[in-house]
Order: sequence, then C-alpha cells, then structure tokens
Amino acid sequence: MKILIVYYSRSGHCRKVAEVLHEKLGCDLEEIKTKKNYQGAVGWILAGKEGSQKVSAEIMATEKNPKEYEMVIFGTPIWGWNISSPLRSYLEKNKNEFNKISAFCTMGGQFGKCFDEIELICKKNLETKVAFTDKEIAQGKLDALDNFLK
Ligand SMILES: Cc1cc2nc3c(=O)[nH]c(=O)nc-3n(C[C@H](O)[C@H](O)[C@H](O)COP(=O)(O)O)c2cc1C
Repeated sequence: MKILIVYYSRSGHCRKVAEVLHEKLGCDLEEIKTKKNYQGAVGWILAGKEGSQKVSAEIMATEKNPKEYEMVIFGTPIWGWNISSPLRSYLEKNKNEFNKISAFCTMGGQFGKCFDEIELICKKNLETKVAFTDKEIAQGKLDALDNFLK
C-alpha cells in the first residue's frame, strides 16, 4: 500500500512518532512548515488561541500530492483540545484529495475533538487512530503503534 505520513510538530513529540512510523512503514513523509513562528511564550499563546478557536495557520507549500497515496496518515499535536492550526490548514487545502485516512496525535493528556475534527473536515471516517502522551513518548512507550499498524 502506498502510504504518506503528513505531520506538524512544534516541539518534537509528533516528529518523533512520525519518524518511528516512517521507519516501520518505509513510506513517504511530509512535514508541514509554517510561515509564522510558534516558538516561545508568544508562540504558545498564539498556538493555543488558534487551536481552540479553530483558526487556520499560514503554511508553506507541501511537496507530495496526497491523491497519489492509498492512505494518508496525519500527525498533529493537540492545541486547545483540538488539532493544531497548521494541520487544519493542510486538511482544508487538500480535503478533496484524500483516499483512505488515519491519524495519530501527541498530547499532554486530553485529545478532545482532534479525531472528530479531522473526520469532519475530510468528510471521511478515519481507518485507525492513536494518541500518545508526551510522557509515553519520552519513555519510548510506543507499543500502541503496533495495533495502529495492524
Ligand atoms: C498551545 C498549546 C496547547 C495545548 N493544548 C493541549 C490540550 O488541549 N490537551 C493536551 O493534552 N495537550 C495540549 N498541549 C500539549 C501538546 O499537545 C503536546 O505537548 C504535544 O505532544 C506537542 O507536540 P509537538 O512537540 O510535536 O509540538 C498543548 C500544547 C500547546 C503548545
């Protein structure tokens, strides 16, 4: 199956999971990059506001065409109990281009509306989904990925 992982990561947790998945699947990988800087305290406040208020972020052009993949796996940190604004922008731009979709998120502990929101934007059900806490990622406890992959 031709698979693409598309993820955004502000502070590395989501990138870590994306890279492990990428290694296990040997598939293509695309990182969403933003025009605005979300680092530091000001960036944190902006991210929280955009996540909870369902605002889109300005993102750089992406390279891969999702239409060419049988499955696209989205990865996002949780911002304000929802998907991050950079993933929101990517989904809104490409929502008619996806075949099958799956998703993972990384979080402090509550993923809120993340998966429902992805399904709502894409107008498709997720084939599979999984959430990891920052603690699990720090401890390398990514066993749930095996079920996700099955
Ligand atoms: C602005 C902001 C809002 C957040 N809101 C939530 C939240 O609602 N629920 C939660 O469990 N974690 C929340 N987090 C924690 C992140 O989702 C978590 O640290 C995630 O793994 C970060 O991924 P990254 O390192 O790839 O950016 C928030 C983090 C930020 C920066």
